[in-house]
Formats: sequence, C-alpha cells, structure tokens
Amino acid sequence: MSLLALAVGGRGLVDPDEPVLHVDDEAFLRSRAAFETTRVYGGRPFKLVEHLARLAGSAERVEIGRIDTEELTRLAALALEAAAAPDAMLRLFVTPGRNGAGSPTQVAMVSTLPEGLDEVRARGIKLVSIQLGLDPDLRASAPWLLGGVKSTSYAVNMAAEAEAKRRGADDAVFLGSGDIVLEGPVTNIWWHDDDVLYTPALELGILAGVTRATLLEEAGAAGYEVREGVFPLDHVAAANEAFTSSSIREVMPVVELDGKAIGDGAPGPAARELQEALRRAALR
Ligand SMILES: Cc1ncc(COP(=O)(O)O)c(C=O)c1O
Repeated sequence: MSLLALAVGGRGLVDPDEPVLHVDDEAFLRSRAAFETTRVYGGRPFKLVEHLARLAGSAERVEIGRIDTEELTRLAALALEAAAAPDAMLRLFVTPGRNGAGSPTQVAMVSTLPEGLDEVRARGIKLVSIQLGLDPDLRASAPWLLGGVKSTSYAVNMAAEAEAKRRGADDAVFLGSGDIVLEGPVTNIWWHDDDVLYTPALELGILAGVTRATLLEEAGAAGYEVREGVFPLDHVAAANEAFTSSSIREVMPVVELDGKAIGDGAPGPAARELQEALRRAALR
C-alpha cells in the first residue's frame, strides 16, 4: 500500500511526505482518535455517508466531540481528485488535537489497495480463534470499553493478526468468554448452514460494519434467511461455509478454522453470491 494523496483540515491538499500532526496530539500520546476506511470503486467512495455517520459516533465516544462532516467530505473529494485512482482506499481520521484541548485535526488519505486480494479470495483464508477474555454481555453496558467504536487503538487487533500468522493462518476471529464468536481484527464474520446465514449481533459490542449492513440487505434480497445473535465457536466450525466481510477485503471466504476444514474446505456459494452482489451495489 502506498499513500497517493493527502488532504488536511484548514490546509487542503498536502504533500504526502509532509508531517501533519503535532507530537502532543492525543492521537499520538494516547492513541485516542477515530478513523474510517472505505473502498473507492470507479473513483467514488462506497457508502461515504454511512462511514461519516459512524466516524461521528466514534468521535463522540472517544471524547473528540462533533466532527465537521462537510469539511471531511471536501477533504475526501480533494484527495480523491489528486490521487486520480479508480480503485483505491480512502481513510478518514479525526484527532483531538494538541493535548486534547486544541481544535480537532481532520485528515483524508487515499492509498493504493493491498495487493492480491482477489487471489486470496479465490483460494479462501484460514482463521484461528483468539480469546479476548471479555464477558460478551458486558460491552453493551460498559461504554468505557468502547465496544463498536472505530478508534485508532488497534494495537491489540494487529497483535491478533500477527499471532494468527505465527500460527500459520491468514487472520483471526475474536472470542468472548464462553467461546462466543465476536468479529475479526478488521472484519465481521458470517457463516452459512441450511440456507440460513448467521452473524454475531451488534449487542456484543462488535463494530457495525458498513459492509455487514450492505450484506444484510443483499442477503435478504437474494432470499437468505439471516440470523443475528450470540453463537459459540462450535456453531461456526460445524457450518457448511464461512466468510468475513470488510470494506477493503469485501467478502472473503474462510476455508479453515483452527486447523480444521469448514465444509468441504473450499470457498462456498453464499460467499461467491454475496461478493458479486456487493460489487454490483458498489458499482451502481
Ligand atoms: C473490528 C472491525 N470489525 C469489522 C470491520 C468491518 O467494517 P466495514 O465493513 O465497515 O469495513 C472492521 C473494519 O475495519 C473492523 O475494524
């Protein structure tokens, strides 16, 4: 991935090699900031309004206060125009500013997409489960745990991805205590059995994925029954197929969980159908 264009609140387009934050910004000091990542299809960011709404919610939860969505929209347009890349990744960041007391800094960045995602999609990924040790009922009633917030404190998520790779897998899935399935470090998770699609409920404090919401609509339109709920890992292990979803990776088939094949160990039909539906929705 490389940075193609950068736009900063109050400044406009900035050379991507220029520094834009102060060292005493709380984003740096305490990793207290909010962000969004969306995919750009044909030069247009997919579901930008939904991403901005989630960013506004995250910013409030990490005590940044109100964000300026109009400015962010302008910054995104500037960066997208400068990048002139039909397929890319748009990231938006809002930081609290210097010592958390200054005015928030808003940033839009356009980068190239990670390479090889379609090749990985064709073969499917291996997942390992990683225990978070959280009571799955707690996050909904404990706002300080920042369940469902897209803050920049992603060191645990990245450590889980690295642990998955150390164990010979491609990605991780987080579990709450009782082996309740939550989400991946940067994805939501789904599985499919007997024409029912399952995905963990938002009440578990997982991120309300914009792709997840899109797939809920597309799955309904394609005739799947979808059940959102609280499910143990065994339920995924016994499914016919599984997949993850995210803005950048889109629908990614899961062919192995904790060293055992899911279904027949090959990407499944629901993942294929929903990936196609997602691309159609993105290009409409
Ligand atoms: C923890 C987590 N869950 C789920 C997702 C998927 O969200 P979206 O579909 O909005 O990209 C992400 C995306 O970054 C994430 O970080």
